[in-house]
Amino acid sequence: MHAPLAKLQQIPASVAAVNDYEPLARERMTPYAFAYLSGASADEWTLRENSAVFDRWILRPRVLRDLGGGNTRLTLFGQSFLYPIMLAPVAYHALFHPAGELETVVAATAMQAGMIVSTQASVPLEDIAAAAKTPLWFQLYIQPDRDFTAALVRRAEASGYKALVVTVDAPVNGIRNREQRAGFQQPAGAEAVNLRGMRIPAAAPVDDDTLLLGGPLLATAPTWKDIAWLRSLTTLPILLKGILTPDDAIVGIEEGADGIIVSNHGGRTLDHGPATIDALPPIVAAVENRVPVLMDGGIRRGSDVFTALALGAKAVLIGRPYAYGLAAAGATGAAHVLRILRAELEITMAQTGCKDLAAIGPDAVAARPR
Ligand code: FNR
Ligand code: LAC
Repeated sequence: MHAPLAKLQQIPASVAAVNDYEPLARERMTPYAFAYLSGASADEWTLRENSAVFDRWILRPRVLRDLGGGNTRLTLFGQSFLYPIMLAPVAYHALFHPAGELETVVAATAMQAGMIVSTQASVPLEDIAAAAKTPLWFQLYIQPDRDFTAALVRRAEASGYKALVVTVDAPVNGIRNREQRAGFQQPAGAEAVNLRGMRIPAAAPVDDDTLLLGGPLLATAPTWKDIAWLRSLTTLPILLKGILTPDDAIVGIEEGADGIIVSNHGGRTLDHGPATIDALPPIVAAVENRVPVLMDGGIRRGSDVFTALALGAKAVLIGRPYAYGLAAAGATGAAHVLRILRAELEITMAQTGCKDLAAIGPDAVAARPR
């Protein structure tokens, strides 16, 4: 096994698209960290599907429209964003860069991008907030210890996080075969520091033939009641991340959610669940603009961002692409990934005659003729 190469100090001329960072990242990571980052659940069908389904849509070029005075601005929960691309919550940035999330937040600040910080960040959430000059949201995994969970929410509020993103699709770990085959183990230096001091509930005695169902893990897993509880606990906007059906979106809104993130965790939880771009339109239809719907999964081009917006997403999140940028070239690489996607989105908008996000409607895309 070769030692990982040093981080790039500048952007190589060969990087033209965000996918170009993946091989450069791979050479600069251990095989285990790369398996963790790039991998997904089981046969990784959903991971592949997330990106592949964008090929079932075509963009409708419109010419000679007036594009003067255009922009990509949007407002979400009263917060202004320059463009509709945010950094998704990704655990343990220290696996990708020695400075961890402190490096990422430099990129987010430089590019004025919204950043969602994972509960499982490798840096204290307060330190990330202190280094940020861009809107931060906090991604919450509801912990078995609900008092500790409430304390996490208080810490996020106190350090100025502007929304809570409650991830609801991971009551158990996905079937991570790629990680298992690579022998991935949590290395030193990438600890979920924000969970330090948490009480691990004593496992209830289980009978010998209990594997998972009926065991202590699922006995403490969050339910809809916890969403109502969180709603009573905080005035921060609450988004539910990991919704894939209209039914769950509606229940979520009834329980007090202020936003829905259509996500399959980048294919890392349930394999053979739907691609997010397929799940998005029926959810948008059911939600009827009551709350904003965001999406993530498989976004690798500005045209993918455009398609998601045309199908009703207010904004998108990217996960692996910025982590590859970070692993290849630190903050410069992560910022460059945002820069490329933003530029591609604007070029796509100009070529489809859309001068602002409001102009990107359902008629801006069409299903690919068979
Ligand atoms: C994730 N994701 C994730 N989501 C979350 O809510 N909390 C987390 O801690 C993590 N951790 C995490 C680690 C790694 C290595 C990856 C790749 C992903 C899921 C993430 O927020 C997002 O949903 C997907 O990454 C989006 O898909 P793409 O952009 O990676 O295709
Ligand atoms: C993952 C967890 C941390 O996807 O959300 O690896």
